[in-house]
Amino acid sequence: MSGIIYYFSATGNSLQAAKVIAQKIDAEVVKITTKTSILCDKDVIGFVYPTFYWGLPALVARFTKKLKIEGNPYIFAVTTCGLSSGGALGQLNDILNKKGQQLSFGKTIRTVANNITKYRIKQKSISKLVQSQNKKANEIAEAVAKKQKNNIPKVGIISKAFYQLYLKEYPNSDKGFLVTSDCISCGTCQQVCPSGNIILKNGKPVFQHHCENCLACLHWCPKNAIEWKKTTIKKQRYHHPQISCSELKTNKE
Ligand SMILES: Cc1cc2nc3c(=O)[nH]c(=O)nc-3n(C[C@H](O)[C@H](O)[C@H](O)COP(=O)(O)O)c2cc1C
Ligand code: SF4
Ligand code: SF4
Repeated sequence: MSGIIYYFSATGNSLQAAKVIAQKIDAEVVKITTKTSILCDKDVIGFVYPTFYWGLPALVARFTKKLKIEGNPYIFAVTTCGLSSGGALGQLNDILNKKGQQLSFGKTIRTVANNITKYRIKQKSISKLVQSQNKKANEIAEAVAKKQKNNIPKVGIISKAFYQLYLKEYPNSDKGFLVTSDCISCGTCQQVCPSGNIILKNGKPVFQHHCENCLACLHWCPKNAIEWKKTTIKKQRYHHPQISCSELKTNKE
């Protein structure tokens, strides 16, 4: 059996889940970026990604549409979310169905919600959520190893409507980013960006308006020098404690 898990992750919740499952089924773990190979001939294919606005991150949607899947593999998906995943699994299934494929198994993992443009992360809740996330990822790994199947919920009308908000604003959402004088020109933001949306000009990040809205740059900046409008000022940044920044770097120098 050969397996591959495609993941998208900004703050490591999804990468951690992907790693736990990959270890159990001995699969390769591959980050979804604009440069990921679209040829896939594996027997087991997994997708692990955060929920964005009760839906599928646009980068994952575009990648899956392009993916050339050979044969009749067992396909599963896991979405990590802060509260509710809405249509995040159903949307992926719809895309696969159009390619003559289907999700055999899909699960949601509730974990730390990282969208600090909208709320604060409660420090106290982190260790409990991380523990329960890892427990759930292990349970999912067991199920995937046995090639279990379940029903993937259809995308509801409310999920569809909420997701439209994201589609409307995501590529240009980086117009809200501000870089403060605390920036030390380390390049981390540019290196963690999954879409090559950041270039450094005179050592400072400049956003290129094809943003995925993932917030990796904001959370991983070692100086907290990236703010989104005024909404993130003095708010705690987050990443999954078992994931390091270097694991998420795409654009290494
Ligand atoms: C733009 C954006 C939108 C989000 N929308 C939702 C949502 O609709 N429902 C939810 O429960 N969590 C939502 N979240 C929280 C993430 O899905 C959650 O924190 C996820 O585990 C992050 O995964 P990562 O660490 O792999 O990036 C959102 C986060 C971001 C950045
Ligand atoms: S990660 Fe932060 S400190 Fe480093 S270049 Fe980007 S904004 Fe500046
Ligand atoms: S600019 Fe920041 S929020 Fe936008 S895709 Fe890159 S890392 Fe994610």
